[in-house]
Amino acid sequence: AADGLIDRYGRTATDLRVSLIDRCNLRCSYCMPAEGLDWLAKSSLLDTEELRRLLRIAVERLGVRDVRFTGGEPLLRKDLTAIVANTARLRPRPRISLTTNGIGLRARAVELAEAGLDRINVSLDTLRPDLFHTITRRRRLDDVLAGLAAASAAGLDPVKINAVLLRGVNDDEAPDLLRFALDGGYHLRFIEQMPLDAQHGWQRSEMITAEEILRLLQERFTLTPHQAERGSAPAERWSVDGGPGTVGVIGSVTRPFCAACDRTRLTADGQLRSCLFSQTETDLRGPLRSGADDEELATIWRAAMWGKPAGHGIDDESFTQPRRPMSAIGG
Ligand code: GTP
Ligand code: 5AD
Ligand code: SF4
Repeated sequence: AADGLIDRYGRTATDLRVSLIDRCNLRCSYCMPAEGLDWLAKSSLLDTEELRRLLRIAVERLGVRDVRFTGGEPLLRKDLTAIVANTARLRPRPRISLTTNGIGLRARAVELAEAGLDRINVSLDTLRPDLFHTITRRRRLDDVLAGLAAASAAGLDPVKINAVLLRGVNDDEAPDLLRFALDGGYHLRFIEQMPLDAQHGWQRSEMITAEEILRLLQERFTLTPHQAERGSAPAERWSVDGGPGTVGVIGSVTRPFCAACDRTRLTADGQLRSCLFSQTETDLRGPLRSGADDEELATIWRAAMWGKPAGHGIDDESFTQPRRPMSAIGG
């Protein structure tokens, strides 16, 4: 649409990622410290009605067709089902997805699917209970596995698994994770670690690259490039042992996909981000709470997206991590 979210490089954002809360009930070592972070105050989070309004503007005026809810951990929002249901009532109805750690999903998968959730991505870095505790600092592996099974049983399709490999921690587990996903009918993707951790401890030399991931998998599986159009998807996919199973690799750092990016982001406290790695945010909550009308809010959003950077710039001399970590941006 001529009045959609276009940027100066000719990209159009039709995929909105909404972080619903910055808190999480895990403490993954590559994401945040054991003690947690300075969480946003409840009053600064967008509430159910504010989210309904902004999502309506995004869909009706700005051409958003896909909505993904993220966190922190979005299942920590008691109103998540209501938020999904409100989103499913918008016209044209957007596709609705969720990125979660899976804790508490077992009890809520059916109601979420009934509310209109289409598909789900669950984070899972290891199948070993003790290693799960080492990485996440919580003993919740069984909850995650139960959540995965419940998501499939509820008809969410596909159910994807996101795994981050950490050198010397779980990098020997890549083939086991793939075997598990193939057997369970889940779509596994391995993700290159990005410099977005709260501790600012990311080091390129520690990152398991897409190339290494493929090499690790090829010790046990035959991978062939998958035929489906990739479009703007972050994951490159391979068919495994002749198919039908596939595995994806999200090579954000070594194989960036910024040129095809179709994303816009809203944080839990109502700040717009044109890019995961933007150095600036645009306040939407202030105008929203002080009475701006729909077209004024849409205009602010369009202006924010026009300034979207060409790419993340991780390889640039001048690269600095965004002020807020992944858990507050929504990934
Ligand atoms: P699908 O639509 O199912 O492919 O979702 P997704 O892979 O885009 O979303 P998900 O929330 O599962 O994120 C998986 C990984 O991709 C996370 O590490 C995200 O931070 C990363 N990711 C998501 N969107 C972007 C993006 O726009 N840029 C970069 N560099 N990474 C992204
Ligand atoms: N780089 C890449 N992926 C990350 N995730 C969390 N932090 C990072 C990071 N710094 C992953 C989570 C989850 C997904 C949404 O993003 O493990 O699977
Ligand atoms: Fe898009 Fe920024 Fe992600 Fe690149 S890093 S794909 S430009 S959001």
